[in-house]
Amino acid sequence: MAIPQHTIDQILDRTDIIDVIGQFVKLKKTGRTYSGCCPFHQEKSPSFHVYRDKQYFHCFGCQANGNAIRFLMDIGSRNFIEVMKDLSSQTGIELPKDNFDSNKLKYKREAPKPKAPAPAVQPAAAEKKTASNEQAPAFEHDPFAEFQPQDDAFYGNDPFAAFDQTPAFEQTQPDGNLYDLLENIVQFYESQLPNSQTAQQYFKQRGLSAETIAYWRLGYAPEDWQHLEKAFPQDIEGLKVLGLIRTSDSGRDFDLLRDRVIFPIRDAKGRVVGFGGRALNDEIKPKYINSPDSEVFHKNQLLYGLYEGRKQKAQDWLMVEGYMDVIALQQYGIAGAVATLGTASNTEHLNILFKQNSRITIAFDGDAAGQKAARRTLEIALPLLNDGRELKFFVLPNEHDPDSLIRREGIENFRRLLDTAPLLSEFVFAHLTQNFDVASPEGKSQVMGELKQLTELLPKGGSYRYLLQQYFREKLGFSRKWQPQVNNDASLSFSTKIDAEEYVIAILINHPYLYIHFEPLRALISPDLLLFNILNIFNIIFDDLPDDPELSRYYALGACSAYHHELHNILENANISDYTSSPEQADKLAADFSTKLQYECLQQKIKSKKFSSLAEMRNLKQKIYEIGKKRSLTLLDE
Ligand code: UTP
Ligand code: MN
Repeated sequence: MAIPQHTIDQILDRTDIIDVIGQFVKLKKTGRTYSGCCPFHQEKSPSFHVYRDKQYFHCFGCQANGNAIRFLMDIGSRNFIEVMKDLSSQTGIELPKDNFDSNKLKYKREAPKPKAPAPAVQPAAAEKKTASNEQAPAFEHDPFAEFQPQDDAFYGNDPFAAFDQTPAFEQTQPDGNLYDLLENIVQFYESQLPNSQTAQQYFKQRGLSAETIAYWRLGYAPEDWQHLEKAFPQDIEGLKVLGLIRTSDSGRDFDLLRDRVIFPIRDAKGRVVGFGGRALNDEIKPKYINSPDSEVFHKNQLLYGLYEGRKQKAQDWLMVEGYMDVIALQQYGIAGAVATLGTASNTEHLNILFKQNSRITIAFDGDAAGQKAARRTLEIALPLLNDGRELKFFVLPNEHDPDSLIRREGIENFRRLLDTAPLLSEFVFAHLTQNFDVASPEGKSQVMGELKQLTELLPKGGSYRYLLQQYFREKLGFSRKWQPQVNNDASLSFSTKIDAEEYVIAILINHPYLYIHFEPLRALISPDLLLFNILNIFNIIFDDLPDDPELSRYYALGACSAYHHELHNILENANISDYTSSPEQADKLAADFSTKLQYECLQQKIKSKKFSSLAEMRNLKQKIYEIGKKRSLTLLDE
């Protein structure tokens, strides 16, 4: 059974690793970390550390590490599912039912009515049937049709009673399965497209090729009020569960989607789970009708185009508004566009996308409504921006959506526009400054006030909230560039060469919030180095750093005052101007630089054979391998 990543994330979000581990290990808070004696190996002095902000544990003795789930699995020798079931009941976040309870996918099928097959349906649809569809749909050749009874009463309730060859167990109708029914319905809609000139014309006028239509399995729902009932007479209950037939006040059943072109919606596994239906002209309201949520169709957890984008190995993901945008972009060669299903995008949608890539782009209309939507999305997205995640905002020219823009501009221009989409920092700056006069001091402080509201939404303990404020202050011309005081003491100035550790120190003092990235070095670096001492000081002061960038620098300097001679020299000589260009850049540089140093420290450790057991060496090698992988990824990025 697979639990979707977004459910795992949700459960982890509501679980605090400190509470989880605290039930097994006596933890003591020292600075930013909690430590105790490792439950996975024998030890007297604590080398087991738990990080609340990262929701991660690590033992520097035996190298055991992982998140809360890993801990519970290892401590109780339980498997993943057992642990997830426990956490699910503790957090109240339900695990997906369809994986557990296949009964929810079942519905009662009616016995086949001994009538001729519905003529509206093309036999072609039946040929595409998958092997999993055991029951014959109504449009397949009915072997009993020729025995069609003239008088229902003669056969009573059981139309097959006359066939004594029919074995008894076939008389009870096996239950239907919603996924099978959905597959039959999509084939039905597909098979209807060749019958409707208007529907074909509609797709043609919107520029879709036959290939595109087949790829997205687009179809047509006929005008007839009861076409699904006629095509699937045994599956009325299933159709109702799916919300595809409704019951009128007078008690008559009718189809939800009529005389509309059909966009089947696939889940992450490629199974059709619902439908969107678009009216054939703009006079008809509503323009789109989507099938309602059901046991297999959860709009909040689905993105149109996700399955297709993954199949096409999309690297860059773009969130757009509509089905047609996704399809047009794919036809023009841009994979990885996704759309919500007529609902506003929510945290889950963004989390799903961040699982694909740490950088995602969101397209918005250039008009007022688009700006409003962008602001709302920003507020949902900010709390998710950790671990090097990046968000870009693609603001479309007025009166355009991605579908119309790519048709006008062509792929090359569209790509260029997409590539120059502003980063979050630039977007937020443009967004917040548009309503204020930033030439005036009042305007500036209003912008900073608004910014503060937004940065409060960023994850606690991340460097981004600080960097963003710094970026704003510099852009608004508030912040003097911070300069260390010049000291003419000759004994300090002769050493001008700065090595990597000293460079880190200069970064840390200038951008204390970047400590997050260098924290892992604390456990690896030689205690003889100044950086070791500085990192330990940061570990203690980090939680108390003031929000204001300038104050936080002085705070850090003050905390490190025991080393002020050494620091002075370093700050004089280190050129860290790369770190002031943009918050995104600073974050990425720090993360990459830290990875590089971790890698080197580990290599040195292996070379100097400073490990106490074979197991430790294996763990070191594993770590080197993992970091090496991360490094080669970041190198590829460049
Ligand atoms: P838009 O109204 O922006 O239309 O709806 P669009 O995608 O550009 O549609 P076309 O190009 O005119 O065909 C964007 C999305 O909002 C949902 C649909 O999911 C649509 O793709 N929507 C829109 C509805 O669910 N119902 C509606 O009545 C309209
Ligand atoms: Mn459109």
